[in-house]
Amino acid sequence: MAYTVPPLTDFSPEALAAAAAELQAALMQESAAVTAAELEAFRNRWMARKNGILTQVNELWLKGSPKEAKREAGQRVNELNKLVTAHVEATEQRMQSASAAGQLYGDHLDVTLPGTRQPLGAEHPVMRTMHEIASVFRNLGYSIAEGPEVETDFYNFEALNFPPNHPARDTQDTLFIAGQEGKALRDRLLLRTHTSPVQIRSMMQQKPPIRVLCPGKVHRNDAADATHSPVFHQVEGLAVDENITFCDLKGTLDHAMKMLFGSSVKTRFYPSFFPFTEPSADMQISCIFCNGKGQRDGGPCRNCKSSGWIELLGCGMVDPNVYNFVDYDATTVSGFAFGMGVERIAIMKYGVDDIQLFYNGDVRFLEQFA
Ligand code: DAH
Repeated sequence: MAYTVPPLTDFSPEALAAAAAELQAALMQESAAVTAAELEAFRNRWMARKNGILTQVNELWLKGSPKEAKREAGQRVNELNKLVTAHVEATEQRMQSASAAGQLYGDHLDVTLPGTRQPLGAEHPVMRTMHEIASVFRNLGYSIAEGPEVETDFYNFEALNFPPNHPARDTQDTLFIAGQEGKALRDRLLLRTHTSPVQIRSMMQQKPPIRVLCPGKVHRNDAADATHSPVFHQVEGLAVDENITFCDLKGTLDHAMKMLFGSSVKTRFYPSFFPFTEPSADMQISCIFCNGKGQRDGGPCRNCKSSGWIELLGCGMVDPNVYNFVDYDATTVSGFAFGMGVERIAIMKYGVDDIQLFYNGDVRFLEQFA
């Protein structure tokens, strides 16, 4: 039954208080149930000058009260006036902000919808590959060393046995810092072309035995295409001790390749040339796309050009000349070194067909590694 204002016969303070409490309870109940469409009717029912509940209260409880109860009734009615006005206004405000939220979220807020996704970042595939390589060698007892990307001619070339004007320098052209003509050649700064200078820095800091792995960014004067980038990453390795032989080099790299590409991968070593190793070799692995068969899906394997082998890195026994630059005794120590391109390994591991994908920052590509 909807609330109606009762006429009072008893105007005692207790009776007035009880009547006010009843009115207040009705107000709370109605305001909680009111809908946007009923808002105007709700305001009128309580506050219309003509016959609204407050007007009736005024008529019945104040004007209708005996003289001696006027003071008490007046106070009560005043309080109720304030209370009802405040409450009706608060109800209107509540409905207004609900309708603003409705405009934002549609007619209503659907709490069963999935929340806004906050995607977690993931390791970039090049960094991930670099860390994987590093962990293989950490397990073999190698420590990690880093060096500057802006390097001197001495560390990048001279101490690695590339003499000034030697044609081997042409294979690793790079950017030189401008305005250094006044400096001696060995002190001139350039963007390092390989991580091999970190070998030299490590040997200058530490006497043999030494086993270090040097990951990092390198720069070459190469035009960008599907297999080249002027900025890329390498991981360099170096082990120097007494009695280190080419067998140690082969065993170490064969193990590392099996860890990286799976235990069925085979390795083979081809004669090559690097100024800082003698002998030098290129290491190839059996093609992981055709399992070394040279044929795939009834046709020639494109990844290894049907040869069954893929060239992966350069390596060799450290040239004794290099030891002279770092104050190692070339007559008592021997060692091996190797250097590999990280992108090249990532391309193989993940079947990526364009090196530029690593640098474009396209999340559709990167998300596949998350
Ligand atoms: N630094 C060579 C390059 O960038 C790669 C390399 C070859 C590193 C043989 C080595 C090595 O340590 O022994 O082409």
